[in-house]
Amino acid sequence: MKVFLTGVSSGIGEALAREFASRGASLALVARRKDKLDELIASLPHSQNHTAIVCDVTDRDALIEAARSYDQSCGGVDIVIACAGISLGVKTMYYEDLEQFDRVFQTNVIAMANTFHAFQEPMINRHRGCLVGIGSVAGIRGLPGSEAYCASKSAVITYCESLRVEMKKHGVRVVTISPGFVRTPLVAKNPYKMPFLMEPEDFAREAVKTIMSNKTYATIPWQMGWLAKLLRIIPNPLFDRILAKRKQKPRAQSAHQ
Ligand SMILES: NC(=O)c1ccc[n+]([C@@H]2O[C@H](COP(=O)([O-])OP(=O)(O)OC[C@H]3O[C@@H](n4cnc5c(N)ncnc54)[C@H](OP(=O)(O)O)[C@@H]3O)[C@@H](O)[C@H]2O)c1
Repeated sequence: MKVFLTGVSSGIGEALAREFASRGASLALVARRKDKLDELIASLPHSQNHTAIVCDVTDRDALIEAARSYDQSCGGVDIVIACAGISLGVKTMYYEDLEQFDRVFQTNVIAMANTFHAFQEPMINRHRGCLVGIGSVAGIRGLPGSEAYCASKSAVITYCESLRVEMKKHGVRVVTISPGFVRTPLVAKNPYKMPFLMEPEDFAREAVKTIMSNKTYATIPWQMGWLAKLLRIIPNPLFDRILAKRKQKPRAQSAHQ
């Protein structure tokens, strides 16, 4: 099994890489921090079977070229997981936050399309393969202070849904996984309560089970799935009242945070 994963230098992506490696998969591992990739590969079983790809996923042409080249050299990737993502506090009423809004969309949404694009044609030609998008429960309803992140994850969920229907006729599966809260650097500074917080390795075990099954959508942990369903049906006046006093993710201070 050959798996191409983005966003593996920490958190969920790293845990997914470890879980797939423990199942004997050969991995292509993408992130910007080379030292972290090298450390990860050295710690994985059969490290000679894994390839580090140092790349910014928002660099469309570089990513597509690296992905295509790996696909050809390994004889065809079976599973692609677009996990790279960022979460910043953003309020569009501040001019300086508009740049952060762009950045969140570039990384969470546009880069996912870049990643999937690289593999769509080869997978269609082989009439097999699986594309996995990492969404979020935050994509179900808008949370104050997280204007860019929530909107980006809604976009991920609907983008993957469009793609799922389109790719099915070509024999290619599309799976969306929406994490609840997972203990990673991305949520380390969240000033609010994180119900059902999971460890990354527990999350990864469940996520890989989902990917290897015939499911097309999963919220992990399942308790957050029920919370997401509840959130979806709560009428706006009640939702607004509940959320009005919720603590918010601090606004990003610099474009390179
Ligand atoms: N943790 C949670 O509770 C939670 C909940 C819902 C959804 N998610 C989603 O799960 C995914 C992983 O998040 P995480 O919690 O594991 O966060 P994390 O620990 O901060 O990891 C993010 C990963 O994305 C990579 N990345 C970010 N920007 C990149 C870029 N431009 N090019 C290449 N790689 C980039 C980072 O690598 P480099 O910095 O080395 O490039 C890092 O490996 C994200 O899509 C996130 O939205 C997480």
